[in-house]
Amino acid sequence: MKRWARALYQPCLPLGRNGQRVTGCEEHILLSRKAAAEGMVLLKNEKSILPFEKGTRLALFGKGSVDYVKGGGGSGDVTTAYVRSLQDGLEIKEEEGKVQVLASLGKFYRENVSAQYAGGIQPGMTAEPEIPCDLLEKAKAWADVAVISICRFSGEGWDRKGIPGDGDFYLTREEQSMVETVTANFEKVVVVLNVGGMVDTSWFCNSEKIQGVLLAWQGGMEGGLAAADLLCGDVNPSGKLTDTFARTFDDYPSSAGFNESEDYVDYTEDIYVGYRYFETIPGAAEKVNYPFGFGLSYTEFAIEPLRAGEEDGTICVDVRVTNMGSRAGKEVVQLYYRAPQGVLGKPLEVLGAFAKTELLGAGQSQVLRLKMPVKAMASYDDLGKIQASAYVLEAGNYSFRIGNSVRNTVKLDYEYQAAQTVVIEQLERKCAPAALKSRLLADGSYEELPQGGDVYEKNRLIPQDIDTLEGVEPDVQGITYQEKKEWRNADRITLEDVAEGKADLRRLLAQLSDRELAGLLGGQVNTGTANTYGMGNLPAYGIPNIMTADGPAGLRIREECGVYTTAWPCATLLACTWNPEMVFEAGAAGAAEVKENNIGVWLTPAMNIHRSPLCGRNFEYYSEDPLVSGKMGAAMIRGIQSQHIGASMKHFCCNNKETNRKDSDSRVSERALREIYLKGFEIAVKEAQPWTVMTSYNLMNGYPTSCNPELLNGILREEWGFEGMVTTDWWNHAEHYLEVKAGGDIKMGCGYPDRILEAKEKGFVSREEMEKCAERILGMILKVD
Ligand code: BGC
Repeated sequence: MKRWARALYQPCLPLGRNGQRVTGCEEHILLSRKAAAEGMVLLKNEKSILPFEKGTRLALFGKGSVDYVKGGGGSGDVTTAYVRSLQDGLEIKEEEGKVQVLASLGKFYRENVSAQYAGGIQPGMTAEPEIPCDLLEKAKAWADVAVISICRFSGEGWDRKGIPGDGDFYLTREEQSMVETVTANFEKVVVVLNVGGMVDTSWFCNSEKIQGVLLAWQGGMEGGLAAADLLCGDVNPSGKLTDTFARTFDDYPSSAGFNESEDYVDYTEDIYVGYRYFETIPGAAEKVNYPFGFGLSYTEFAIEPLRAGEEDGTICVDVRVTNMGSRAGKEVVQLYYRAPQGVLGKPLEVLGAFAKTELLGAGQSQVLRLKMPVKAMASYDDLGKIQASAYVLEAGNYSFRIGNSVRNTVKLDYEYQAAQTVVIEQLERKCAPAALKSRLLADGSYEELPQGGDVYEKNRLIPQDIDTLEGVEPDVQGITYQEKKEWRNADRITLEDVAEGKADLRRLLAQLSDRELAGLLGGQVNTGTANTYGMGNLPAYGIPNIMTADGPAGLRIREECGVYTTAWPCATLLACTWNPEMVFEAGAAGAAEVKENNIGVWLTPAMNIHRSPLCGRNFEYYSEDPLVSGKMGAAMIRGIQSQHIGASMKHFCCNNKETNRKDSDSRVSERALREIYLKGFEIAVKEAQPWTVMTSYNLMNGYPTSCNPELLNGILREEWGFEGMVTTDWWNHAEHYLEVKAGGDIKMGCGYPDRILEAKEKGFVSREEMEKCAERILGMILKVD
């Protein structure tokens, strides 16, 4: 196929076998269901209430049994042919003769929820109706087990709530009363949570009235069926938490300051995020209901350390995992290290590596090798307590533990001994905070931080009118007849010449007028199925208009074009598989859908850290832990780019709150930045080289991320070796020419060429800086195939 033919002509060319479509195809939907089942987490299973025995009679309570939330909203949403709720899923199991479901209760909830949808309420935001007395009596007389479903929805642009009784993190009062009614009337109760992030678990964690709990996440279009697969034992649960589930919302260290201001968020807990906080800070351990890495199975595994040691700077641990039970299943082995407290202070436990077994039959074993670089155990010394701006491995003994959650581990005999403190990597101070007053230390005390951070360039143009920064469509590039005639006849270097190795990209760029060059540095008009705009679009030089599309839950294109795509489980669920191969497969399958619809860049993966349960976009992100985020992001990027589609790793960085998201300042220490908030991105860049990185809307330490030269040219490119192109998030609030200066290559959804030209005329930005950005944009386009 001719290069860029899809972008140029939008052909209808299905990618499947025998000309079949892959978009929303059976195979992809099956993969989505398989991934969903693999990432759901069994939190509780007392008296082996699960899986349901054959023929068990089920009464499904809670509107969540039919009001299924396949994923979050906004750019994280997808248009699908259908969505299966838990009620749908269990009815399929009923047809297969596995369980029985009380139809009249399902009918009641379906009618109730349909009426609420008809009133304009979207899935997941409906109210919990009261259970009609006659149905309750009927269910009581008929059912063996009551299944309670709770669902939650969130999306970009708004945050969740953490107020008891008000819903969201907590149950609403109506949900509480439904739970009370059900638990008062049934001996056996199972709960299914269809949620996109951390929620209250205290109402069932220690309750004798609730014996089984499945954290089913937002499982994509087949999520209800995947949950039914697990509940009925067709699949053995193997998902593990990638976040800590604390006793109350207030127990998270980020909670106190989350809503302090709309203008800033202080990351005062510093590196003590998630389990690093709960396992380290005195008194925090008891605040955990379900620890990081936790998840039950219908079988038992023995994890036996075989050998551990250091080989060429890498800690290698071999373990044998044996399935001791009678059902086939998979286990996740997690390697944690404990570093000496030293001068800098460290989290008590840090995840260093993980690996998942294959499906092991009863009695079957597998030997896994877990590997982590010694240098990954170094800490960043941002204040120069040992050596300023360096990663330092402090002297002392580093011990290791393996197990299947941060709390369920055994200590290995092997220890790594650092005889003296060593500087692992000398860097430079970058992106330091200006106004973060203090930060938490490992002993629970706080230290004061120096004030006044790095100084960056200020906008020297008269500030742009805010309205022109919001949601302006990119210009349609008009060409006059005369211009067309001229360029057709001209002896020009085209991008095709560059692609064929006949000419150099820089020579192509040298031909462009300033206006043409400035035009390239912004988003381009939509074509075909796309609704998030394109990149390139300079036909006079043979530059195609490469379309972009969201997002982490699947390909999101114009609803009007009537194409249904596959909705994958939400990113948090994918991470809970702890199975990068599975994430790779989902990435490759999703990217094939992207390609089939003539789009070249997929705006995923989203890799921000789960700092607070309240962040409205947590469902799009993987974990509270940067290693899990980095490994999952890297797998997703490799999967996507295996299809010659560009991945866009986002939102770089510190997008941990949605309220006032375009102007809120995330204030964070350089150590926490490097060890927590940037680390996942760093892993993914080094392991998978995404073709594009999307900066975040928020400010970081007082300055927009999209025009921060230390972040983009300094950390991302010079330190990590990023070779791709940087895009802004869509219609952010930063000044275009400052982005160009900082190595922010393209402004999306649209650019502001006039402002760049004005800045150039006044000497604030150079032609050379503009060409550098254009070179990287075209470099990215050259990879799309
Ligand atoms: C979101 C991005 C998304 C972009 C394009 C923005 O509002 O923050 O994640 O990729 O829109 O839809």
